[in-house]
Amino acid sequence: MTTLPIEEAAALRAKILAWAEAYFERDAPVVPDADYDQAMKQLEALEREFPDLVTPDSPTQRVGAAPLSEFESVEHRLPMLSLDNAFSTDDMDDFHRRVTERLGDGDVSYCCEPKLDGVAVSVVYEHGALVLAATRGDGTCGENITANVRTISNVPLMLSGGGVPPYLEVRGEVVIPRDAFERMNAQARAANEKVFVNPRNAAAGSLRQLDSRITARRPLAFTAYSIGAVEGDLPAAHDAILQRLSEWGLPISEYMQTVSGIVACDDYYEALAGQRDTLPFDIDGIVFKVNGMAEQERLGCVSRAPRWAIARKFPAQEVSTQLLGVDFQVGRTGAITPVARLQPVFVGGVTVSNATLHNADEIERLGVQVGDTVVVRRAGDVIPQIVSVVEDNTSGSSPERAPIVFPGQCPDCGSYVAREEGEAVIRCVGGMACGAQLKAVVRHFASRKAMDIEGLGDKLIDQLVDDGLVRSVADVFRLSQAQLAALERMGDKSSENLLASIQLSRSTTLPKFIYALGIREVGEATARALANYFLEMDALLAASTDLLEGVDDVGPIVARHIRGFASDERNQHVIADLLALGVNWPPVAVDSGEGPLAGATWVVTGKLESMSRGDAEQRLRALGAKTASSVSAKTSTVLAGPGAGSKRKKAEELGISIVDETEWLAMLEEME
Ligand code: IVH
Repeated sequence: MTTLPIEEAAALRAKILAWAEAYFERDAPVVPDADYDQAMKQLEALEREFPDLVTPDSPTQRVGAAPLSEFESVEHRLPMLSLDNAFSTDDMDDFHRRVTERLGDGDVSYCCEPKLDGVAVSVVYEHGALVLAATRGDGTCGENITANVRTISNVPLMLSGGGVPPYLEVRGEVVIPRDAFERMNAQARAANEKVFVNPRNAAAGSLRQLDSRITARRPLAFTAYSIGAVEGDLPAAHDAILQRLSEWGLPISEYMQTVSGIVACDDYYEALAGQRDTLPFDIDGIVFKVNGMAEQERLGCVSRAPRWAIARKFPAQEVSTQLLGVDFQVGRTGAITPVARLQPVFVGGVTVSNATLHNADEIERLGVQVGDTVVVRRAGDVIPQIVSVVEDNTSGSSPERAPIVFPGQCPDCGSYVAREEGEAVIRCVGGMACGAQLKAVVRHFASRKAMDIEGLGDKLIDQLVDDGLVRSVADVFRLSQAQLAALERMGDKSSENLLASIQLSRSTTLPKFIYALGIREVGEATARALANYFLEMDALLAASTDLLEGVDDVGPIVARHIRGFASDERNQHVIADLLALGVNWPPVAVDSGEGPLAGATWVVTGKLESMSRGDAEQRLRALGAKTASSVSAKTSTVLAGPGAGSKRKKAEELGISIVDETEWLAMLEEME
């Protein structure tokens, strides 16, 4: 039986929508991009041939339209208001007092919502179909950005469910989630394109595109927070209205909460402020709205802001200040980082007087010079950054500008500095002869996630290196109590304690030891993967780059860094010294011979689809099995992926059991 075009179009649409949902909403693509593109092409061709088959919610309607020469102006049926700000609990008390006095009622329910830091947008639905989207503009007139908003994957083109009013204007904020923003900027950086300063600028820039095909490629997301003009019935409370919008398919904030009274508003503020840094998107405050629509009506508006709502702002994460100078710091790997010295400012809740400038490329990109007024950003725990130069920087107290010059020699040891090909970073070539590098190496070695030497802090390390008592990390284990007690601000008691914690740190684990060595690009996770794979330090040191690349997490660059480290004789000496000085660890746990596969020897061969071979071997070892690279009479089972050749044949000859990937995954499910 042949399929009718209408059936084919419906099937394609359903498939594409499901794939898009997995991709955009769950961040878990189920098919390669090429399959998605292919299905879209098929659907487009079909809809071209039979234009009647185009439905308003067809995914083809989201890909972006031909570029506009300019945006049309749109008058809002009801003005888009702004909000009054509050900065303290006192301001909130004043707000509550004004509300209760006007309403003549002390019991007020407030709906609390995050104040999303993006771009305000109005979206109009007629009989459930998206017909218009506009920016806020001056509040009265905005710009028609319908083509752009249609490309936003979580904005329904068609509302679903019953009771949708014939005319419904939804208002909300368009943002770019933080993780998508990071990915987008990483891609831009890799392609040598312009990076965005922050997610809000990126969202605004994306919506301002005259070519909606560009907007379609940006990871924009919409959250509805209120309604505008409506013809038809809606519930009598703000929270119930938003709930209804959500039932019709519109995204609303999952953090929304209705509370009673102003004290509960303060509690909500504190709770969300505490989560601010870990939220998936930027927020710049909390909006509190009187929940009853009749009460909102009675309260009304003053000039451009409603009396029934207020925005309690967080401390700013971006402020401007003056760049006083630049210091150059030498890191563990010799990387020389320019550090901005700033006129101290209060930003993101703390006073900041230093910010990283990353490297010479970044300085060039910013076009920054000493004396400039710059915008400093501090979000959460991240190191403060300079994000831009304020255009008009003549108003600063020092109008003279001076270019930032990188030193030709290491500021610490005077060694040459070199820039490796393809790298943005300039490095001191001094190695351990450079005091600054050695200090950074020892700091890393002693840190909690590495050898975890309690009490060996930065100041002490500086003294030990400066006095020549520590010339390599192994020297830490050669320190005597007399040497320690003779140091500044070190009594008998503290030197005894330190010696005891050094002693304690001798017993470590292989992953911690590998991490402590400070090999470039080898973080905690990679160190763990290496330990699980090689089980012994010697095996790791002897591994070829090919073998190293077989380890999960390890690509050609990391493999090269490990190889470079392992083949350096000085490093070999330090490792030998450390072991001779009593550093030790128990056998790696995955090789403990315990677990459901204890006593069995497995060989993995061929190409697996769900994981790398190294990964499969690691999982097997975690279950207690031994893994081997060749098939022999000792082999218990062979896991053979597609393309398995001689090993599979040998197993067949020897009558050894062979499992394919599907069987193996089923086994894993049972055992893990
Ligand atoms: S309600 C009359 N709710 O903040 C009420 N606004 O100055 C109008 N914003 O430009 C806004 N998150 O784009 C409201 N949950 C939220 C919001 C929110 C962000 C923005 C909005 C507006 C600005 C208010």
